[in-house]
Amino acid sequence: KNIVILISGRGSNMEALVRAAQSEGWPARIAAVISNRPDAPGLAFAQGRGIATAVVPSKQFSNRADFDAALQQEIDRFAPDLVVLAGFMRVLTDAFVEQYAGRMLNIHPSLLPAFPGLATHRQALDAGVPEHGATVHFVTAELDHGPVVAQARVGVLPGDTEATLAARVLVEEHKLYPYAVRLFVEDRLSIEHGEVRVSDAR
Ligand code: GRF
Repeated sequence: KNIVILISGRGSNMEALVRAAQSEGWPARIAAVISNRPDAPGLAFAQGRGIATAVVPSKQFSNRADFDAALQQEIDRFAPDLVVLAGFMRVLTDAFVEQYAGRMLNIHPSLLPAFPGLATHRQALDAGVPEHGATVHFVTAELDHGPVVAQARVGVLPGDTEATLAARVLVEEHKLYPYAVRLFVEDRLSIEHGEVRVSDAR
């Protein structure tokens, strides 16, 4: 299977996916890493691993529809079976999301449905929740609301700051996302009545 990963910045989740795909011998290859920012640090890692990279600079587009159309064109050059959003900080149009229905995943740093949107670690601290974490979900038109594939939990500790909490969640993200994407490439995920079903390994 061909996987295209979209990033906007650091790309540590992308890196975890590339490492897992290669070291665990997935029935898949990371065909390309595409960024909406030319300066995304993650691009260098992908290039170093011999992965094709591309930039579709969102700044140069005056509206979402035009950007999404250009992005789609770039993605489709790599004929992906799966599109993986990994710290891709752009809200996508419904038309774009529809194009990849059932084959686009996102990771969000909260236990959805809690704390959609931005600044999730701040939101969790302000709400005083005892547990926080990360969610991998299929992308649907409503932001941060698609069917959940998997979640990872961390306790919120006394004295936690946004930075310490984010760092602990990130460690879990780097295990959770490879786990979830592997389920997809092994054809173990299906969506029934809006919920994800995971079937056993064959
Ligand atoms: C991660 O916390 C991810 O959940 C969120 O943005 C961050 C991206 O980090 N959407 P990285 O670019 O993968 O290092």
